[in-house]
Amino acid sequence: MPRFGAIIDGKEVAKNIRKSLKPRIAALAEKAIVPGLAAVLVGDDPASATYVRSKARACEKLGIYSEVIRCDALLTQNELIEIVESLNSNDKIHGILVQSPVPSHIDELTVTVTINPEKDVDGFHPYNVGMMLLGYGGLLPCTPHGIIKLMRHYDIDPAGKEVVVVGRSNIVGKPVAAMLMQKCDMGNATVTVAHSRSKNLAEIARRADILIAAIGRPRAITADMVKEGAVVIDVGINRIEDTSTEKGYKIVGDVDFDGCGEKASYITPVPGGVGPMTIAMLLSNTVTAAEMTS
Ligand code: GUN
Repeated sequence: MPRFGAIIDGKEVAKNIRKSLKPRIAALAEKAIVPGLAAVLVGDDPASATYVRSKARACEKLGIYSEVIRCDALLTQNELIEIVESLNSNDKIHGILVQSPVPSHIDELTVTVTINPEKDVDGFHPYNVGMMLLGYGGLLPCTPHGIIKLMRHYDIDPAGKEVVVVGRSNIVGKPVAAMLMQKCDMGNATVTVAHSRSKNLAEIARRADILIAAIGRPRAITADMVKEGAVVIDVGINRIEDTSTEKGYKIVGDVDFDGCGEKASYITPVPGGVGPMTIAMLLSNTVTAAEMTS
């Protein structure tokens, strides 16, 4: 039997992060502040609805106030902007997120720049993106920050390593690459970003000491693309049809877990790897945003 890599337990690390937020929430309570998060969901995409529900539930469990604003898919861009503006001036709300993707008649950037950067707990506002790129921290994007927290927990130091990020989205690929190349603790990596137009993807991926898959294609990363002993981080959350399950689908990552696990030193499962960390970092950013007002 080939040896299987150590499985990174995102649920456990996320639990530790939530625990570390409790004294900070208690300190805010002494100042009569309850951190508050508003999530805006436009349309009825079932996956987005599930994510938003999970985010709200995680808030409730920790004593963070949450509001979910569900809007019809036909909501106009101006109506969405008005919702965001009213949340900007709502003192109960310290964090605002508009679940992505929004319907195609809405320009996401126009809406994102309307969010007060101090309430931008997704870290998507160009101000926060710029600060992150310049290495000033602030409200960092949740999934990339969660990946870094996971690596830190398992003593996986990216300094001097070859990191290959597969995927160049604004939510994951671009920011995680920027964060890992920073001249700072948990940075200093040599980062390559590969994507759908890259030639010889397998060859590039095989260079990675740390391979981060964020392409959004089920099991696209196969064992032949992984170097022996690499750390494999799977950011994918893909629904694939599975008639043997009650729901008729199951969730798989961007990585062929069984195949790649036989080569990896560490590997994240899906579910239970990066996903729980995204939510934990959202809670953390909401608490940070509330602290900034106190
Ligand atoms: N869609 C997929 N991931 C995210 C996220 O982290 N935040 C928001 N707002 N939308 C998403």
